Amino acid sequence: MLSTDRLSLLFVASEAAPFAKEGGLGDVVGALPKYLARLGHDVRVVIPRYYSVNISKYSLRLLPGTLVVPMGIIGHMYCGVYEGHLPGSEVPVYFLEHEQFYGRAGLYQQDGQGYLDNDNRFVFLSKAALELCKMLAFQPDVIHSHDWHSAVIPPLLDTTYLHDRFVGDSASLLTLHNMQHQGNFYPGLMEVLGIGWKHFNYLDLEKDDQVNLLKGGIIHANLLNTVSECYAAEIQTAEYGWGLEAVVRGRAADLYGILNGVDYEEWDPAHDPHIAAKYSPRNMTGKAICKQDLQASLGLPQRADIPLFGVVSRMVQQKGTDIIAEAIHRILEMDVQFVMVGNGEPWAHFYFGDIAAAYPDKFACYIGYNEALAHKVEAGADFFVMPSSFEPCGLNQMYSLAYGTPPIVRATGGLDDSVENFDEQALTGDGLKFWQHSAQALFDTIGWAAYTFFNNPKGLKALRKNGMKKRFTWEEAALKYERLYRLAIQRRRGAEYYRNRFGE
Ligand code: ADP
Ligand code: GLC
Repeated sequence: MLSTDRLSLLFVASEAAPFAKEGGLGDVVGALPKYLARLGHDVRVVIPRYYSVNISKYSLRLLPGTLVVPMGIIGHMYCGVYEGHLPGSEVPVYFLEHEQFYGRAGLYQQDGQGYLDNDNRFVFLSKAALELCKMLAFQPDVIHSHDWHSAVIPPLLDTTYLHDRFVGDSASLLTLHNMQHQGNFYPGLMEVLGIGWKHFNYLDLEKDDQVNLLKGGIIHANLLNTVSECYAAEIQTAEYGWGLEAVVRGRAADLYGILNGVDYEEWDPAHDPHIAAKYSPRNMTGKAICKQDLQASLGLPQRADIPLFGVVSRMVQQKGTDIIAEAIHRILEMDVQFVMVGNGEPWAHFYFGDIAAAYPDKFACYIGYNEALAHKVEAGADFFVMPSSFEPCGLNQMYSLAYGTPPIVRATGGLDDSVENFDEQALTGDGLKFWQHSAQALFDTIGWAAYTFFNNPKGLKALRKNGMKKRFTWEEAALKYERLYRLAIQRRRGAEYYRNRFGE
């Protein structure tokens, strides 16, 4: 690679594994930068330093100096910056230390209630990331925003930072991981943004008399992408656009879909330290031991002769928790077992707790976040259940493919792109799909899986083998992102600048 080929990239996000993670966003921000760095790029990451980010565990170092962040009508605010690295790499991660905004237990909420100052918390993240470039004398070629939390960066780059010495030339890419959450706030937030009221109109940041940060990002970013191709098409429709479908359609020419990868160093049944026995496509005997271990861990009878269905997910409407709740009694009329690991909406904690009490030999749930148990479910279950109403990408179904645990999915977004439906005659496919978002469709497909388990061992074997052969690599995704970064730079600064800068 020519030295001039090297891109400077800044990721700004609300999560990055392993430091702070609530879902797949953290997995992506914790993995993709490493693979871009392996391609030779100068990649850096900025996230808040929540209380849960352990300074000594990760040997974080406090940088000298204080960051001064202009917060419009609030005035200047100040923060410290810790520096660390993504484990197993040289990728610097900068943590914004601000007691008032981030010194609390949760990332976004407590007891199901979003923090009331999430507007200022994440506007601060976005502005502080731009100010940090000055402090580090870092001129990113591209600033890569993720979801609404950093979506206001593209509007800032087009306005108050347009002539900034460090970021004025930076191109912007906004990755849409989830259209449901948009950062909708009261109009007065315009005074904190400080970009002028003229941007509060329906062609810009305003939506239904509110400031909509995601909308601002969609309109101003040089390029956009979703985390699967299917989702890129879906969000242009009323069913999946959450009110922004027309805005997205307006940018359709600049919208791409790149499927997330899997970190196979973390998720591989041949090397997984969390599971009771290792196994691989050539020797699957360990999988039966993992099933016994999962049953024992959750207090279920250790039966090899019946199918065990597993779920690991946030318990929210997106994930189809409601249709599982509706179908579960009928599912448990069959000779099967069902386990759930997750937390989320309080009703679900009570509801599934009661189901566990009513069917102690068939149903078990763990309410909470538990990394080791998530691995045990992937390995020990016979089928993995993911009946999402929408799913921008979804990682768990990809993990379950790697663990020879065929996923049962609703054909939407990344679930549709990553899972191929089982064909009983041709013995092709790696999972079982349904289309309608209903308890009936879920029940029918679980019935199909149970039938396959009891009556079609050849089919089950083929499903497992086909899934384990599949690979979704970050290497491949990183190359696609690299192409988008180069295109974004050309959009921002013109083809001639690009040729001069990169010699192409
Ligand atoms: P989303 O980001 O919408 O929640 P993904 O499938 O992209 O969905 O990613 C979910 C990630 O969070 C996966 O890494 C999954 O293993 C993890 N996860 C979700 N809930 C739990 C839980 N209760 N315990 C452990 N890991 C969980
Ligand atoms: C979001 C989506 C999920 C996706 C993840 C990472 O949380 O809900 O489908 O896998 O982001 O991109």
